[in-house]
Amino acid sequence: MKIEPSRQLQHYQTGIFAALNEKKEELLQSGRKVYNLSVGTPDFPVFDHIREALVTAASDPEQYHYTLRDLPELHTAVKDYYKKRFDVEISTDQIVAVPGSQEGIPHLGMALCNPEDVVLLPNPGYPAFEVGAHFGNAEPYFYELREENDFLPRLDEIPEDIARRAKYMMISYPYNPVCAIAPPSFYEEVIAFARKYNIILVHDNAYSDIIYDGVQGGSFLSYEGAEEVGVEVFSLSKSFNLTGARVSFIIGNQQVIDAVKLLRSQYDFCIFEPIQRAAIAALRGPLDQVKIQCQEYQNRRDALCGGLRSIGWDVRDSAGTMFVWARIPEGFSSSQEFVIRLMEETGVICTPGDAFGTMGEGYVRFALVLPVETLQEMVRTIDESGILKQN
Ligand SMILES: Cc1ncc(COP(=O)(O)O)c(C=O)c1O
Repeated sequence: MKIEPSRQLQHYQTGIFAALNEKKEELLQSGRKVYNLSVGTPDFPVFDHIREALVTAASDPEQYHYTLRDLPELHTAVKDYYKKRFDVEISTDQIVAVPGSQEGIPHLGMALCNPEDVVLLPNPGYPAFEVGAHFGNAEPYFYELREENDFLPRLDEIPEDIARRAKYMMISYPYNPVCAIAPPSFYEEVIAFARKYNIILVHDNAYSDIIYDGVQGGSFLSYEGAEEVGVEVFSLSKSFNLTGARVSFIIGNQQVIDAVKLLRSQYDFCIFEPIQRAAIAALRGPLDQVKIQCQEYQNRRDALCGGLRSIGWDVRDSAGTMFVWARIPEGFSSSQEFVIRLMEETGVICTPGDAFGTMGEGYVRFALVLPVETLQEMVRTIDESGILKQN
């Protein structure tokens, strides 16, 4: 019997990531030193108070039944955190927990869209954003983020008919992969745009705690009118190193939250309670380690961006996120060609920018997941390989 998967699967591929992984295994097997900066999994440990809350809850046999609900204490902890951290007032009804933004964002597409709708997506784009449009059977429209515009969208470039058909628009700052942040004027402009065209705004706020040079990370919901037009997707993964016990929240506009809750009620028995307990500990606990960690990411950014500049590769400093977005050096014809050559000649693994869309061509992304000393050693290895001077 031949089984045809759904037409939707034609949109998806594992392509370059599978190829990178294969190449990495080859290098390791041949005894080469590998610097793997391709995936954004934090190497920092989960904080003790969070792990202890999870372990304590997980040792209770009662926890192993279906969970069936978001704990009311969890919603209250999110509400209090938003007040304390972002000075944003929300009610507990405006919150729904999801097992990670990577899952929540595509499901928003399913909860909101019909086939005649358009979803406005950034290019370069975090891949899960586009999945939302496909889950909703909607048409993706990619707006361009260009370096000369500080990776902010030009809303006047979005055609009027597309804006009229758009159901929701994904935005995200600090933004992975381009590592840019947005000024308050951008949020004011995009909220006015959303109001004008009746577009829901979805702000992915995965990096509110990884932002550099003294800038304070904030919440989209702190802007006037934000709650009327949109929601924020707030992940604990990166702030609290919980990528293996993922929990995120969709927060904001009541009608959007109710739609998401109705959708989830059809398939979701809610997040394992010990993970919810860990999330409460994270949100209610001290935030000094989060700040120390942010400083360490900044030190890594300095070691990588400054180090690469010192050997003749003009790399822009990241303003936020745990990544660096670098133009490929002169003389290479594509991001993929450069990534493969870099890997073969230095053992450094990064992600080609075109994995994030056509506007990513000509760039590569490094994840800041190795300590400063290792990044310095890696920069020396790149320098000694001569790859920057070959072409
Ligand atoms: C922009 C962006 N959004 C969402 C996520 C995923 O977050 P979560 O771990 O909550 O699924 C990531 C993870 O790398 C990300 O970079």
